[in-house]
Amino acid sequence: MRALITGISGFVGSHLAEYLLSRNVEVTGTIRHRSRMDHIRHLKSVQLVECELRDPFSVETLIAKVKPDLIFHLAAQSFVPTSWNSPVDTIHNNVAGQVNIFEAVRRLNLDCKIQIACSSEEYGHVEPDEVPIKESNPLRPLSPYAVSKVAQEYLGYQYYKSYGLHVIPTRTFNHTGPRRGENFVTSNFAKQIAEIEAGKKPPVIMVGNLTAKRDFTDVRDVVRAYWLALEKGVPGESYNIASGKCCTIQEMLDLLLSFSPLEIEIKEDPERLRPSDVEILLGDYSKFHQATGWKPEIPFKQTMEDLLNYWRERV
Ligand code: GDD
Repeated sequence: MRALITGISGFVGSHLAEYLLSRNVEVTGTIRHRSRMDHIRHLKSVQLVECELRDPFSVETLIAKVKPDLIFHLAAQSFVPTSWNSPVDTIHNNVAGQVNIFEAVRRLNLDCKIQIACSSEEYGHVEPDEVPIKESNPLRPLSPYAVSKVAQEYLGYQYYKSYGLHVIPTRTFNHTGPRRGENFVTSNFAKQIAEIEAGKKPPVIMVGNLTAKRDFTDVRDVVRAYWLALEKGVPGESYNIASGKCCTIQEMLDLLLSFSPLEIEIKEDPERLRPSDVEILLGDYSKFHQATGWKPEIPFKQTMEDLLNYWRERV
């Protein structure tokens, strides 16, 4: 079994590579010339290929060479605030990259299964009586990033219907754990606490909107879900990957602070507020559970402790 992971050097990519290797899957991953290798340096048996997904030639050459049985398409501009500053780049990167993969698979007539990393951000504005959110909920995206994920998902559907490509979009709710990029809220707060503990920063933590509610799953549960999505999911169907629980960002911060012996002041940084924020994301993962048997296993407290310890070892 040969798998191709786009964006292997990223947070989810590195965890997925570890998981696939533990199942004796041959793993090839795409990197770019500026990719950071910290998360994958220890994975000696992974084959790395430099590929610019926006370049159709680069993608077709890669896919013709690897001939994967499975593609996990994770590479994306995935930070919501960046998508307001660079909307065109976000749409181009996320949408064109995926079209190039689909086109290469179609033209080479490959029989492979493709998971595409879509997002709960696609739901965007959610009415109070719509939670927990099912896959049948309307999509009301609130950022260019979210729109790019809706486009990715609809392209998946279209290539499935038009050409029979075996595409499974996973609508993953927030996920975190060791190696989470420091821009994202869980990792950002954990890193600030670790820096304060190490005496590298005064005991003040800078925050944005603490009232938003998010449904967090451990990345190690998420990569298991991606594997199962391709093993057992029905092509053309979208699946929520979620924990089925949610908390406010304030509650998540309080949990992190409870792991530290220090008194830390909380201060709002207006720069961290967004033009519009998704108020609540709470997912219903029963459709995916019925299809695959998956359920999250790692408790949130454990995930957050592991994340804080990850930063304590690094600051
Ligand atoms: N990043 C960040 N930094 N977010 C903050 C901060 C802060 O200092 N303070 C509060 N927040 C709030 C944000 O306003 C948002 O409501 C929430 O914390 C989560 O922010 P992020 O961690 O940046 O994630 P996200 O919810 O915008 O998007 C993530 O989850 C999506 C799935 O729902 C990303 O991983 C996306 O790529 C993913 O698709």
